[in-house]
Amino acid sequence: MRRTLIVGNWKMNGDRAALAELGGIATAAAACPAIDVAICPPATLIAAATGSGIAIGGQDCHAAARGAHTGCLSAGMLVEAGAALCIVGHSERRCDQHETDADVRAKAIAAMAAGMIAIVCVGETEAERDAGDAVAVVAAQIDGSVPDDATPDALVVAYEPVWAIGTGRVPSIADVAEMHGAIRTRLSAKLGAAAAGGVRILYGGSMNGANAAALLAVADVDGGLVGGASLTAAAFVPIIEAAQAVG
Ligand code: PGA
Repeated sequence: MRRTLIVGNWKMNGDRAALAELGGIATAAAACPAIDVAICPPATLIAAATGSGIAIGGQDCHAAARGAHTGCLSAGMLVEAGAALCIVGHSERRCDQHETDADVRAKAIAAMAAGMIAIVCVGETEAERDAGDAVAVVAAQIDGSVPDDATPDALVVAYEPVWAIGTGRVPSIADVAEMHGAIRTRLSAKLGAAAAGGVRILYGGSMNGANAAALLAVADVDGGLVGGASLTAAAFVPIIEAAQAVG
């Protein structure tokens, strides 16, 4: 009932020439009908990317619909450009832009109100995991960042341990299973069991073609949020194919 979702997050990478990668990605996605595939390019490329045949998303949005916020983009602007999804609360923004759980929640509400799927990111730092606090930290992020009335069609949660992003390191399968189960439990307490049962929970952090099958086979892992390995079709297509094979 939860369709696997593989999302590429290009971060501040890619130019018009990079859009050529979308051709191969779209071909692979079309050959893997059991799963959903999306790419979140820099906002400047969203409109140009919408003809690719795969879903396109933003990497952030402002909580307000309009106003005096120089340099920011509203959710409605992203939708007008062609975005169907929007990442909110990525750890790089929580760190670099000092976004709080309340900020992330407001952005998620704005994204949903504009008609997008909000991908709410959570994840612990290495120090928090070493201290044994990983599950508690992520549970608090879920409580603070997920809108109270979120529905499964409009909410995706991405668990991305900060120490695994861009490092080539991934948690053990047991740790991924424990965390995704804990996130589902927390979502159930917040949204009710029926709604929580439909929310897709993605794993993110150094997912690649070699480790995707094992990660995606874990219970309550409903897809992936992929950074570095989403920048080229050659790196991303094996993840799409692994997801299709896992089902
Ligand atoms: P990575 O990034 O796949 O390069 O580790 C994942 C992310 O930050 O979404």
